[in-house]
Amino acid sequence: MERRTFVKSLASTVAVAQILPGATEALEQQVTRLQTAMSAAVDDAKLWRRVRQEFTLNPGLVHFNCGSVGATPRLVVDAMANFTRELEADPYHNEWGGLGAGQEAVREKAAEFIGASLDEVALTRNTTEGMNLVATGLNLQKGDEILTTNHEHGGGMVCWQYLAKHHGVKMRYVQMPNPVKNKADILERIERHINKRTRVCSFSHIDTITGLQMPLAEIAAITRPKGIIFVCDGAQAPGMLDVDVKALGVDTYASSSHKWMLAPKGTGLLYIRKEIQDRVHPIMLYSGYGVYSGSSGTRNVSQILGHGIAMDFHNAIGRSRIEARCRHLSRLVRDRLRDIPALTLLTPEQEELSSGVVTFALDPARGDRGEIVKRFWNEHNMILKPAQGTYAYVPEEHVKGPHAHYNPIRISTHIFNSEDEVEKMAGLMKKMLA
Ligand SMILES: Cc1ncc(COP(=O)(O)O)c(C=O)c1O
Repeated sequence: MERRTFVKSLASTVAVAQILPGATEALEQQVTRLQTAMSAAVDDAKLWRRVRQEFTLNPGLVHFNCGSVGATPRLVVDAMANFTRELEADPYHNEWGGLGAGQEAVREKAAEFIGASLDEVALTRNTTEGMNLVATGLNLQKGDEILTTNHEHGGGMVCWQYLAKHHGVKMRYVQMPNPVKNKADILERIERHINKRTRVCSFSHIDTITGLQMPLAEIAAITRPKGIIFVCDGAQAPGMLDVDVKALGVDTYASSSHKWMLAPKGTGLLYIRKEIQDRVHPIMLYSGYGVYSGSSGTRNVSQILGHGIAMDFHNAIGRSRIEARCRHLSRLVRDRLRDIPALTLLTPEQEELSSGVVTFALDPARGDRGEIVKRFWNEHNMILKPAQGTYAYVPEEHVKGPHAHYNPIRISTHIFNSEDEVEKMAGLMKKMLA
């Protein structure tokens, strides 16, 4: 995005609210400094070192777990602190008017960020909430079927299990191949499980265990002609991939902005495609998709405005540039760990099926993932993730196959990470598993 356009976008969050004299200027100055430094950087390494300075992570801490929760840039942290001070100086006037009036500009940014229209996007607290809103807003009947996979996270799964328990809907689970070799295999498995009772297909955009990027557009080409609602758990994508919900063809898309979008904790978004809004009626959206309404109730204004600044931060650097950086680092992780005999790569190698999340299954004979991750933290100040691999949310009978319980270690790479961090982590992993 061109600097002037970006600064205008950045300013809109605060300017609309007509608050904080000087806040817009201060933010503009910070962004100008960042952008000037970035364009002056002679090489990529220098540029990304400069970006790293925008974060408040403890010195020496290596955060490879954006898949759980992201690190919020200083720009956003400072802006939020200012918003909170302002809000608390006159809570009544700033909750709904004043400061609070800036919240709708954030919803506009969220719509633009994922390629949707304003009347299709609501601001939520997280993916789980978005998925719950969709599931309970669908009016499914006893015997209706939900098709999902045995690789979903609880945040995208519990909503259907609730409907199964309390409303008699039936769940069917596609067994995900491991590792996934090609797109056709996934599509064939999905198609094989669809029948006349299938009302919903619910799949993650990025598999929380393996980092697989699901071929959503191809799945939509199967579901849409059949009138099946295609629900997507997008917890792991916006802010890492440059997401365009229209190109993906999904009917609903729920995400957590506190992960890859690096937004304040407890922020998320929900997209419901215009054409299916007559089939999905979440109570929270009964009075409309606006941030505050009679059916949403009172919101956390400073957090929501901070969400807007986080999107501005991404736009300043460039969403496709960020995606390329996340992918570059995750390729490096794959390259450096691939040859360790105790590890089996679970993430597909193909660009279109992979992402900024990389997972290896650790041979249980060579160690326990929890112990290894603990050593990285206790001895080296590095955060890796012992990924869900025991299917905490999937009934045992749906867990089959060679890597049924993977003992997986997951590594997420974002723009605050560096090649040096990856090299160091890989060297340590080799030594630990030697
Ligand atoms: C695929 C997936 N869905 C849902 C969630 C839940 O996210 P949240 O707790 O922000 O709702 C996660 C969290 O890791 C996830 O990976």
